[in-house]
Amino acid sequence: MTNTILSVDNIQLAVLDQGKGDPLLLVHGFPLDHSMWRFQIDALSTRYRVIAPDLRGFGKSDVTQGTVTMSRFADDLANVLDALKVSSAITYCGLSMGGYIGWEFFRRHRQRVSRMIMCDTRTAKDTAQVARGRLLMAARVCAEGPGFVPEAMFPKLFSKDSFRHRADIIEKTRNVILASPAEGIAAAQRGMAQREDVTQMLTSVDVPVLLLVGVHDVISPPAEMQHMANALPLATLKSVDHSGHLPPLENPDAVNKAIFSFLNPLLDG
Ligand code: MLT
Repeated sequence: MTNTILSVDNIQLAVLDQGKGDPLLLVHGFPLDHSMWRFQIDALSTRYRVIAPDLRGFGKSDVTQGTVTMSRFADDLANVLDALKVSSAITYCGLSMGGYIGWEFFRRHRQRVSRMIMCDTRTAKDTAQVARGRLLMAARVCAEGPGFVPEAMFPKLFSKDSFRHRADIIEKTRNVILASPAEGIAAAQRGMAQREDVTQMLTSVDVPVLLLVGVHDVISPPAEMQHMANALPLATLKSVDHSGHLPPLENPDAVNKAIFSFLNPLLDG
């Protein structure tokens, strides 16, 4: 395993690069870091080159003040691939905000994408109320720090099963959020608040796409992801039991199995 700090576009980004094989880029959700994929990294890196960055403003990566748009994050990822000398097309795997960034990545760096795995994500833009809530959180986190963020978000992140039986992942997620830089959280919230609706682009996503969704996800509900599956030319939708918005943490075995059989249906993952 290599944990490396890459200098790209005048900032430093922390990136885990593990395994050999076709490149698989894992892009975390908000307000987390690459450790969101910890149950995937060891398993998937037995067959693939797993690249899992901390996005700008999260984990050990540098923070940018102000607003970080989904396009900015997408271009950072392309710069990371350049810095790691990844020239072959990748499988892009993103969860939620990592998925919002994925649609931009596809739009801006089409030639770099051979397949996509989109977990618990959306294509719709925010309602005015949701966008306002993001700006309020951005202002509050800058004033108070991230102490209030876990309690504000947890009811929508985890399933009831996880609250009952998975204190481990809940505590680890809490610690990741509490360690996140306030300005990084704020900048991503402002960026998500101004993202466009990209539903119309789904028909042009001409690569195989695996859509994964927790059966109890209330942020990107299964019915909404079913609409995405209907619009995408080459999509497979899989529901993940016992999960809310974070199946890679809540039901990692099911997620790993689905990813292995999508990436290589001939192998029994
Ligand atoms: C995420 O998991 O990345 C967030 O829930 C995305 C969002 O706030 O829309």
